[in-house]
Amino acid sequence: MATPVDFKGGDVEGYLNSQERKDLLRFITCGSVDDGKSTLIGRLLYESKMIFEDQLAALERDSKKVGTQGGDLDFALLVDGLAAEREQGITIDVAYRAFTTDKRKFIVADTPGHEQYTRNMATGASTADLAIILIDARRGVLTQTRRHSFIVSLLGLRHVVVAVNKMDLVGYSKDVFDEIEADYRQFAAKLELPEITVIPMSALKGDNIIDRSASMQWYRGPTLMGHLETVDTSSSLADQPFMMPVQWVNRPDQNFRGFSGTIPQGTIKPGDAVRVLPSSRTTKIANIVTADGNLEQAVAGQSITLTFADEVDASRGDVIAKADDPVLVADQFETRILWMGDEEMLPGRPYVIKIGTRQLPGTLSSPKFKINVNTLEHTAAKTLALNEIGICNLDLDKPVPFAPFQESKALGGFIIIDRFTNATVGMGLINFALRRASNIHWQALEVNKNARAGKAGQKPSALWFTGLSGSGKSTIANLVEKKLHARGHATYLLDGDNVRHGLNKDLGFTDADRVENIRRVAEVTKLMVDAGLIVLTSFISPFRSERLMARELLESGEFIEVFVSTPLAVAESRDPKGLYAKARRGEIKNFTGIDSDYEQPEKAEIVVDTSANSAEACADAILDWLDKNGRLSPPR
Ligand code: ADX
Repeated sequence: MATPVDFKGGDVEGYLNSQERKDLLRFITCGSVDDGKSTLIGRLLYESKMIFEDQLAALERDSKKVGTQGGDLDFALLVDGLAAEREQGITIDVAYRAFTTDKRKFIVADTPGHEQYTRNMATGASTADLAIILIDARRGVLTQTRRHSFIVSLLGLRHVVVAVNKMDLVGYSKDVFDEIEADYRQFAAKLELPEITVIPMSALKGDNIIDRSASMQWYRGPTLMGHLETVDTSSSLADQPFMMPVQWVNRPDQNFRGFSGTIPQGTIKPGDAVRVLPSSRTTKIANIVTADGNLEQAVAGQSITLTFADEVDASRGDVIAKADDPVLVADQFETRILWMGDEEMLPGRPYVIKIGTRQLPGTLSSPKFKINVNTLEHTAAKTLALNEIGICNLDLDKPVPFAPFQESKALGGFIIIDRFTNATVGMGLINFALRRASNIHWQALEVNKNARAGKAGQKPSALWFTGLSGSGKSTIANLVEKKLHARGHATYLLDGDNVRHGLNKDLGFTDADRVENIRRVAEVTKLMVDAGLIVLTSFISPFRSERLMARELLESGEFIEVFVSTPLAVAESRDPKGLYAKARRGEIKNFTGIDSDYEQPEKAEIVVDTSANSAEACADAILDWLDKNGRLSPPR
């Protein structure tokens, strides 16, 4: 009858696309192995006779080997894929499985229940319609139950099944069940969980999974499978306002231009008036093209190519929406962030934000507060660590089409990617757009920076010195400035120690504070370059991301990275301020090179080594570079 498909590490979307779009329910299971979660999924698959013979044989073998259930089959083994996980007795990733019954198709994401894996659960939940939250009848509502429920509500799931499992171990007691249900409903009232169904069951014995339990005659509600097969998912995506982010522009030759993508929500027909965002130009749909011919109508879930009636253009990342139901465009938002990076979030650091089919740089503010996932309490926070959830403002480089997450998962959800490692470090949900910046425009000034710089016979430039404390940055920068000044150039030197006495005196040396230090210095540098100056900055600036941010704030050619490449041992032996000695004695924390990272530049325009050359020679080399690269000419 049905075929189980194991997606561990596989292609879920591909499978879905290959299936006809019959009624599909995606759900996740939340709970730990102790709650019987894997047993439950195994039972669902087994009772529905959806296990291949060879899987069954392997299961019998493994059950005998591991032997947690005596001689019985251990259904948990069917789900806990990897051998290593079996040995540890925990599940450590999101495993997707698909199965079909006569009524419906199902995709289940099996997500781990351990605290450190909140990110996996959120990953599984982000595409699900329904969540099964497991409770061990002997233990009742636990901290983890509250955590799971909070994440489920955060991600906007509309249906929750509370599976009160292991009823066999509490004598199938109605009183125990009633108390747990009351407890849960009281807690859930604080969350936005629209529909909650509480079912007493025993996954191990098969009570109320497929068949009604003979031992719990007092229970009148549905069985788990009965509920999964009939739960109404019809207030479906197809009825929501149409929108489609353009995945790619399909242009095989001069005569055809179409815009391809997958419809996340809504319905579209030829002749419908549409608007392309962010340009806001309007046109009509000419054709809906697919590999199997043109369609009269397309709905959420389908991958299509749209052609327009007029010459209106759209590019990758643009959003096509109905003309009279337009999507909003903004660049600043209040968002809910779930941090998934092993390293904490750094407010002010540019990350890649992937929203819809668009990727662009963006920064997060420090959290307004973070939310304790176990108690729902709000606490003050400067940053977010792995698995923490907080409210932060998101500031994007450019305005993008968006919708609040509550209205559209596709345009209201985004992921956060580290620019250097390419790892996904967080996910975010848009609450609403902030309007404050929308009325402030950059003032175009009549006297521009080239006019100012031309007077001083120079191209506006930033010489960005980076290197360890004691490497010689300030000494060389000073010398370079003196030489430039002597030749009549207009300069300014921004030095770490000085700036930290004024503009940045509120900042210390945590990673987050260094990011903010450099962010402000980069902004000041940009203004000074705009003043036409040759700006010299002397900051450790230990992180690549922030040096790149400074580079990107300026125009091409203006940012000149000078790596003062002095080995740690040499800088430490100089120790001009006695700080290395203090750091070694543990009197200063987070000292660069000792217990805080320095990320070396990979492609600095200029590299000087003060252990092999005098400061004077290094300064001359820098002037030489400026001359050769056309940044200097005699002042007029
Ligand atoms: S940065 O990392 O944020 O770029 P910055 O260049 O402004 O640092 O300041 C570095 C200077 O602050 C050092 O030269 C040193 O004199 C002083 N300092 C004090 N504490 C530390 C520390 N923990 N790490 C590095 N420098 C420190």
